[in-house]
Amino acid sequence: MEQKLPFQLLLLLLCMSAMHGIISQETNEYRISMGEKVEDWFEEEEDERQTLQSEGRGRTVVNVESLGAMGDGVTDDTQAFIKAWEEVCSTRNSVLLVPEGRTYLVKAIRFKGPCSGTIIVQIAGKIIAPDEPGEWDPKNPRTWLAFSKLEGVVFQGGGVIDGSGSKWWDSSCKRNKSNPCRSAPTALTIDSSSRVRVEELMLVNSQQIHFTIWRSDAVRVSKMVVQAPDYSPNTDGIHISDSTNVVIQNSKIGTGDDCISIVNGSTNIKMKNIECGPGHGISIGSLGKDNSLAVVSNVVLETATLTGTTNGLRIKTWQGGSGYARAIRFKNVKMNQVSNPIIIDQFYCDSSIPCQNQTSAVNISQVMYINVSGTSKTPNAMKFACSDTVPCSNIILSNVNLQRDNGDGNVQTFCHSAVGYNYGIVHPSADCLRYDTRPHPSPPIHSEL
Ligand SMILES: *[C@@H]1O[C@H](CO)[C@@H](O)[C@H](O)[C@H]1NC(C)=O
Ligand SMILES: *[C@@H]1O[C@H](CO)[C@@H](O)[C@H](O)[C@H]1NC(C)=O
Ligand SMILES: *[C@@H]1O[C@H](CO)[C@@H](O)[C@H](O)[C@H]1NC(C)=O
Ligand SMILES: *[C@@H]1O[C@H](CO)[C@@H](O)[C@H](O)[C@H]1NC(C)=O
Ligand SMILES: *[C@@H]1O[C@H](CO)[C@@H](O)[C@H](O)[C@H]1NC(C)=O
Repeated sequence: MEQKLPFQLLLLLLCMSAMHGIISQETNEYRISMGEKVEDWFEEEEDERQTLQSEGRGRTVVNVESLGAMGDGVTDDTQAFIKAWEEVCSTRNSVLLVPEGRTYLVKAIRFKGPCSGTIIVQIAGKIIAPDEPGEWDPKNPRTWLAFSKLEGVVFQGGGVIDGSGSKWWDSSCKRNKSNPCRSAPTALTIDSSSRVRVEELMLVNSQQIHFTIWRSDAVRVSKMVVQAPDYSPNTDGIHISDSTNVVIQNSKIGTGDDCISIVNGSTNIKMKNIECGPGHGISIGSLGKDNSLAVVSNVVLETATLTGTTNGLRIKTWQGGSGYARAIRFKNVKMNQVSNPIIIDQFYCDSSIPCQNQTSAVNISQVMYINVSGTSKTPNAMKFACSDTVPCSNIILSNVNLQRDNGDGNVQTFCHSAVGYNYGIVHPSADCLRYDTRPHPSPPIHSEL
């Protein structure tokens, strides 16, 4: 008995600290959703950057050419990069240098941590991938340059990462139905890392997704340019999955899929000064595929221009999912000829077999659109298509003014099972949000069975 008491106490303490965690998180979420502190978040990053870069002097620089990289764009430089990484990762506070004015051909590489101290990856030159899907390393089917388990890393240098994706695109089933549907590599992946900064890099023509931030915390991306043709399939610009405290700012993204996509497990995501287009817009989702649980919260987009995209601000979920997407704010967004400027779609279905409606769905609530204006390429300026059983709630529109691009005045708002509020100018009128447009549930039949 005497031995049990401290154990129970410990348990109690553990419970209390866990509860405290939950409570403070919720308080934080509240503050975020009310939107007081956004500016602070965007500014706070400078300190971190200074800390990482002030260590710059006295760093050991490992030049890939000193390990045999040719940089002629033809010779396979993979081994030189692998050796350089081994040296960088085991040397305290070092720099991986990819020199300017040269082109390095490298195959799929996993740059693994943990490393000793912080690292700067200085990409000043150009890194290109081999372009033949048939010869891709089968051990790395989903990644090309994959960095994992790093704490404190800065990617910078003004260089270019080029996925040489055109043959991958041609072999996609999205471009040619007679091709088998298979995945292709992501050009740049940051996985299971924290305190990451990515600045002034250009990502072009990825095989599939350009840049994935996965299972990471405290990632700040700025001055990125992501570029691929509008016909390149599934070439999302920046894809955020299972990550927290991510800031993306001052970036220009135009590809064949979402400029930015935010999926499950992502919280505290901020985007500011984003230029998007061509592409599919800025998306949260898809969420809830195959009856999965999804949680996304505290997402802020502030100051963005979308040009010629097929969607603008989109939240998409599959029928049958569970969990939630909430506390999402889109503010100061300009649309130029966007096909579906504002859209929530709880009936998303990206499969060859039509999807059935189900009773569960990812719950969408607290979504704000503040000062969104510009032109819609179709009459569907706003669409809130929500599930019958899990309606969208607290959809807030404040000063939204969307006009038809051809000037014919034909724009409309569609609501199904969505409720919310309008403030200021809202055009086209979104009165349909004021009523619960959910159909009355049909009476249960044989409920005793
Ligand atoms: C689609 O792929 C098939 C088989 O690879 C090929 O014969 C056909 O020419 C392709 N079609 C187009 C439009 O590229
Ligand atoms: C979504 O994220 C949550 C929380 O991070 C996790 O519990 C869940 O398993 C994830 N769902 C899927 C399908 O990965
Ligand atoms: C509304 O957003 C636009 C950008 O689309 C910006 O120029 C303007 O200053 C914003 N208005 C207010 C009142 O913040
Ligand atoms: C699913 O429900 C929506 C809204 O009630 C309806 O418009 C749609 O036709 C349904 N889809 C199927 C496949 O039943
Ligand atoms: C969805 O979330 C809202 C807000 O948290 C809540 O009020 C509502 O009950 C939830 N709906 C369902 C069906 O769980």
